[in-house]
Parts: sequence; C-alpha cells; structure tokens
Amino acid sequence: TYEKLWLIAAMVLIVGFIATITYGSVALGITMVGDQEDTIEPRELSEDDRFGEPRVEQVGENEYEAYVVARTFMFQPDPIEIPENSEVTFYVTARDVIHSFSVAGTNINTMAIPGEIATMTAEFDEPGEYGIVCNEYCGSGHHNMEGELHVL
Ligand code: CUA
Repeated sequence: TYEKLWLIAAMVLIVGFIATITYGSVALGITMVGDQEDTIEPRELSEDDRFGEPRVEQVGENEYEAYVVARTFMFQPDPIEIPENSEVTFYVTARDVIHSFSVAGTNINTMAIPGEIATMTAEFDEPGEYGIVCNEYCGSGHHNMEGELHVL
C-alpha cells in the first residue's frame, strides 16, 4: 500500500540523515560522545581554579578535561592542545556575555553562557588543527573572536 511505501521512504531518509551526520564527524576523526549542562555562579567562576586559569587536565590514560572560558573577545586557553586518540570532556562557560564555542567543521558547537557550564565529550582520533569561532553576536569584536584547537 502507499502508506507502507511512505513509511519506508521516511525511514530511509532518516537513516540517510543520521549516516550523513555520523560520516561527517568520523571523517574528521572526531566523535561526539554526549552533552549536558550544569550551572556555576559568576563569583565561583573566578574562585574556581579550573576556570580562573582555563586549562586542559589529564584525568586518565587517554582522557582529558578541557576547561574553556569564552570572553570578549577570546577563548581561553588558546590554543587548546590535546593529544590524538584521546577522549576530551569540554566544560565551557562565559565570563561576561553570551558567546558560543564552535569548533569549525565539527559537531562541537555550544552556547557559552555566563553562569552555566555546557558539557560535551568528543573523541579525537587524528592530529589536526581546527579553528574555534563565536557564533553569537557579542559586541564590536565578535567577528574577530577566534581560537584554535590543536590535536597533536
Ligand atoms: Cu563572542 Cu561573538
């Protein structure tokens, strides 16, 4: 029947869509593992060493945590350096106004909001250099707000 054909056509489209997304990230050697959100008070941001001095910390053999702060008009740390074949959990927040943390050409893309910590995990299989951009208008320097992610 037509109904069944439509159902099959819809499923093929959905599978194709998912396959495209999966292929897009695998081809770059980056796999998204998951994401969530947490909160942090602005005063805690300054008192929290990890965000006070944004950094990448090794937490396991191939596991890292990246504490990233977006602010007018930069990302910290810059560049973010991580070794290949690693799993990295990003904790991203903003110090002043709303920014975004968007790693060009990957699925890593989140709003960076004061008082909130966006969390996402990605796997980096291959060396590469990626540009980081801000996709939320944040002021006069928005268009120059850039950073780099190096997979070494
Ligand atoms: Cu920061 Cu636009």
